[in-house]
Amino acid sequence: MTSHAEAEMEERNFRAEVDVESVGEDEASESLLRLFQLFQIEAECNSSEVIPQDNEMWCSRNVLRKQRNWEKIVAAKKSKRKQEKERRKAKHIEGTEQQHSKRVLKAIMKERLLEAKHAGPRLCIDLSVSDHMTKKEISKLAAQIRRLYGANKRAAKPFWLCVTGLLVHSSIHEECLRMNDGFSNYLMDTTEEHYFDLFPLERIVYLTPDSKHALEEIDPQKVYILGGLVDENIQKKLTFQKACEQGLQTARLPIQEYMIKDGNMKNFHSEILAINQVFDVLAMYYKTGSWPEALKAGVPARKGFVLPGQQDVETKKMSS
Ligand SMILES: C[S@@+](CC[C@H](N)C(=O)[O-])C[C@H]1O[C@@H](n2cnc3c(N)ncnc32)[C@H](O)[C@@H]1O
Repeated sequence: MTSHAEAEMEERNFRAEVDVESVGEDEASESLLRLFQLFQIEAECNSSEVIPQDNEMWCSRNVLRKQRNWEKIVAAKKSKRKQEKERRKAKHIEGTEQQHSKRVLKAIMKERLLEAKHAGPRLCIDLSVSDHMTKKEISKLAAQIRRLYGANKRAAKPFWLCVTGLLVHSSIHEECLRMNDGFSNYLMDTTEEHYFDLFPLERIVYLTPDSKHALEEIDPQKVYILGGLVDENIQKKLTFQKACEQGLQTARLPIQEYMIKDGNMKNFHSEILAINQVFDVLAMYYKTGSWPEALKAGVPARKGFVLPGQQDVETKKMSS
């Protein structure tokens, strides 16, 4: 048998052997490589028949070069497939871990909330003051309740939340259901009742920006009340007067005690925050025990207050 015929037979055998579907891509590549090497042998044999002797060296170098290129391609493909396989495996593991850690985080969050329900502190959003709000203000309030609830869920030391005076079918109730996914399953209490019918009066502290008393600490035995109100046309002292009429303790955030007016803010300074911002301050204080840190985290710069020493930084920021 001639070398040409032998090579053809080998090729047929190999084609039968190299069934890519059944052996998998790695083996198929290796088999193809072997097949290719056979072709090289055949090519070398054939070329020695037709190419003159002085071309032999050039020819075999050319064949070797092609073979090396082919080997490189096969090796690169192989390593790419390996990398891809490892990437898929890592992604799968990561996905499983994420699902696992999501479940664990949810369980931790639930445990912390139930601990706060049992041991305090409690924070009520009083919706009995939300009567005269416009549609736009009601939407804003619903969004603030969602943010506050989300922040409380993420807090290392959460409060137990309670929404009081929430009348079924009222505009704010409808808006909360419409805008806040899963509102009816929020881990908090909602009731049509008023806070003063639910808790002993001596435990209630109504938080209001108009109070004369600065809040000094967060006492887990107390129930803190926030006025569920967005008043774009400020209803001055609304919650303060209400709390005074009910003979309740009141407190404001200690903004004046720990912050100074930012000289760059063209005379606009306001201590009135949205309920979710007040909550951010309370939650940070409850976690760190530091009012400067808490106020820095919760009081937006546009309110015109900064911590002493922060003013220089703010001035530099504005002038750059
Ligand atoms: C937008 S404010 C409403 C202000 C309204 N004029 C009032 O009479 O309360 C919403 C609620 O956040 C709370 N709040 C806002 N700023 C506060 C501050 N500096 N100190 C304490 N509570 C504050 C109060 O409970 C307030 O009712």
